Amino acid sequence: MHGQNARSTCQTGAVITLPIRTERLLLRMATREDLPTIAAYRDDPEVARYQDWPLPYTLDDAVAGFRRVADLTGPAIGRSVNVMIEHEGAVVGDLFVGIGDEHPGGAVAFLGYTLATAHQGKGFATEAAAAMVDALFERTPVHRIVATLDPENFASMRLLEQLGFSFEGLARKAEPIRGEWLDDMRFGLLAEDRAAWLARPTSCELVELVELTEANLGEVSALQTHRFQHRFVAPMERNLAQALVPPVVKDGVAAVPRYWAVEADGQIVGFLMYSDVSSVEPYPFLWRFMIDRMHQRRGIGAKAIAALVDHVRAEGHEALGVSWVDAPGGPRRFYERLGFVPTGELDGEEIVARLHLVRPPCRGIAGGGAPHRTPPATVSADRDAPAGDDRQSGVDRDREADVLDGHAARVGGAGRVDADHAAGRVEHRPTRVARADGRVGLDQAGERALARGDGAVECRHDAP
Ligand SMILES: CC(C)(COP(=O)(O)OP(=O)(O)OC[C@H]1O[C@@H](n2cnc3c(N)ncnc32)[C@H](O)[C@@H]1OP(=O)(O)O)[C@@H](O)C(=O)NCCC(=O)NCCS
Repeated sequence: MHGQNARSTCQTGAVITLPIRTERLLLRMATREDLPTIAAYRDDPEVARYQDWPLPYTLDDAVAGFRRVADLTGPAIGRSVNVMIEHEGAVVGDLFVGIGDEHPGGAVAFLGYTLATAHQGKGFATEAAAAMVDALFERTPVHRIVATLDPENFASMRLLEQLGFSFEGLARKAEPIRGEWLDDMRFGLLAEDRAAWLARPTSCELVELVELTEANLGEVSALQTHRFQHRFVAPMERNLAQALVPPVVKDGVAAVPRYWAVEADGQIVGFLMYSDVSSVEPYPFLWRFMIDRMHQRRGIGAKAIAALVDHVRAEGHEALGVSWVDAPGGPRRFYERLGFVPTGELDGEEIVARLHLVRPPCRGIAGGGAPHRTPPATVSADRDAPAGDDRQSGVDRDREADVLDGHAARVGGAGRVDADHAAGRVEHRPTRVARADGRVGLDQAGERALARGDGAVECRHDAP
């Protein structure tokens, strides 16, 4: 983390009284006894990798840092302090807290954190930083907190964004770190951002895939993931550009974009785009999927996938493909929980995975439902085995079916889908693929199937 050596000379008293207790931690000022521990973890090249202190970091450096703040009992305006993070009686790291004195009516604080390697990955830094952020906003005139990072420091980005910080910009070659000018990313959090973050909804009732319209395009364009997720998914401007000008997938054949906005409880919260089957793609391939940073972890993503699965099933497809970047904080666990299974192939550096779609639960139509339509016999692709050449075990397929059926049932939680099924009016009703004009049945899939006149739409789509 950059900027942890910044200091100001103005001396005033502490504005936050320590210690602060959190669920697992104690935040307190350093004592002389802590200094060897501090020197040891700060001298660890792994810990120092993205930090701005010189290496080696010696006991003398720790002593000098301790002396600079010996008069303080906590963070103070115009000063920078390192606050110890203690867990079960042992120091596991420290927080850096600097509060500016340039703005008398309010103040800007700088935040940093350092954890000893052995104590990383347990959520300690997040827990400590959250407590300090709240103390700064609640107990001091601070209205804005800033953190600056090395652009490669994804773990730190993720931590900040999980507290409600947002990315504000990149300064190029702005920080002299150990003899090298490095880029510097800036994240910021206002008091009102933190309040909005803490008050954001944590669940949702109804998820729908809705068409992009003139009316919702502004909201769709404004959707954003966290900054640390930019390595997992393209930004909205690229998604929209590629929907308009699809990229070539293979052998000169372009992707066939099908896309919707994701709406949760009436609010636009995400975007989903798959590439439809073509001469080089035997299965639909989920190509772009993102939920806005303020709406993640509400269960919306899983419900949107369930709605998409209903849709591609209704079109008669037997599988849905996806690929992901396998890195910490990435979507691997999300997809695997939904039943996507890696095929063993790579698309560039991305893991290719596939979800096998079970035979649709065709309820409510006399005769037990129509047969599944298989992908056109002429297709071939490098990504997939031919339809039916399924290398997965039956057990895997059953598990996927269970996972998806579970999600699909929850999508129907608002009652609409299940009620329709029960009333025997529809077999598969992609009502969640709603049109702006209210015609539910003729969604993109239905229109294409009817245009083909191939009878591939086995399920009647009633108007609501
Ligand atoms: C991947 C992504 C689309 C998932 O969307 P989402 O709406 O956050 O998904 P969900 O809320 O359904 O599930 C996400 C996680 O939150 C958990 N969760 C769901 N509801 C929750 C709740 N109310 N409270 C806490 N956690 C919850 C889920 O169990 C899941 O955990 P997991 O990561 O361990 O599987 C979203 O994180 C995203 O946009 N990421 C960036 C872009 C990206 O990676 N896209 C995929 C490109 S291939």
